[in-house]
Amino acid sequence: MLSRRARIAALALTLLAIGAGGVGARCLSVGQARCSLDTLLHGAPDLDVPYAVTRPEAVAAMLDLAEVGPGDHVIDLGTGDGRIAIAAAERGATALGIDIDPVLVAEARGKAREAGVAARTRFLAQDLFETPLGDADVVTMFLLPEVNQRLRPRLLAELRPGAHVVSHAFAMGAWQPDGEARVGGSRLYHWVVPAQVAGRWTLRDAAGEHALVLRQAFQRLEGSLANARLTEGRVRGEQIAFDAGGRRYSGMVSGERMRGEDWEAVRTEAQSSPATSFHQR
Ligand SMILES: C[S@@+](CC[C@H](N)C(=O)[O-])C[C@H]1O[C@@H](n2cnc3c(N)ncnc32)[C@H](O)[C@@H]1O
Repeated sequence: MLSRRARIAALALTLLAIGAGGVGARCLSVGQARCSLDTLLHGAPDLDVPYAVTRPEAVAAMLDLAEVGPGDHVIDLGTGDGRIAIAAAERGATALGIDIDPVLVAEARGKAREAGVAARTRFLAQDLFETPLGDADVVTMFLLPEVNQRLRPRLLAELRPGAHVVSHAFAMGAWQPDGEARVGGSRLYHWVVPAQVAGRWTLRDAAGEHALVLRQAFQRLEGSLANARLTEGRVRGEQIAFDAGGRRYSGMVSGERMRGEDWEAVRTEAQSSPATSFHQR
């Protein structure tokens, strides 16, 4: 079993390998001078991810992917020196930066003041796994694959359909990204949270009333409409589209109802636990 220090050192090497701007294990290494008295007395915070920074051009590309602008609320998980949250606020959004390390949180607050965006940013020293996510329009992160995977069910359950998730460097397992970008050595991933539509529906169109069964794995859909098999089924935020019975259905989902130009459907039975693949059942 690796010691915590060895584990963090190994994670830091992983981040260096994927081209992070710079890595520091803070109180565990030469960065001793940046440790707070609290950290020195009570030990370094229990990090799930070592500190490394996203380069400015990658920060800008992350915010571009989610089209961050005025009116958006961004939650930046593992905010470090706050650079992603501060850049979001510079675009007119409000931003909440979360980091378990109080020294970095203090640094982020100072940098937000210097950038003139203190009023639109908030930085909290707390565990990202205990941070409610529900009011975010955009969640940004530069974490690690297993941390992303632990967050995944909460992102899908707590964020509204249509909210954006952007991750620097690491993907989200079976939840395929809706978009990707490469900036310098950085790989960026973008998801749009899909509405949860799995279950049984009654669909009405010009041909009459039909039973619609939807199975969902993230943004992909399978199922049937009357006796026809569904193909090309996707959900992107509240937009839904699928082919069945020789035609394309596309429309918008709103809770237990959805409608297109010449059809509408009402859910009669929801599926309680979301699937991560079509092969689970
Ligand atoms: C790779 S750094 C990213 C820093 C910044 N977001 C960036 O992209 O430049 C990850 C950050 O996550 C923080 N962190 C690690 N575990 C955490 C946890 N459980 N809760 C909140 N923050 C955590 C670390 O202190 C570190 O600042």
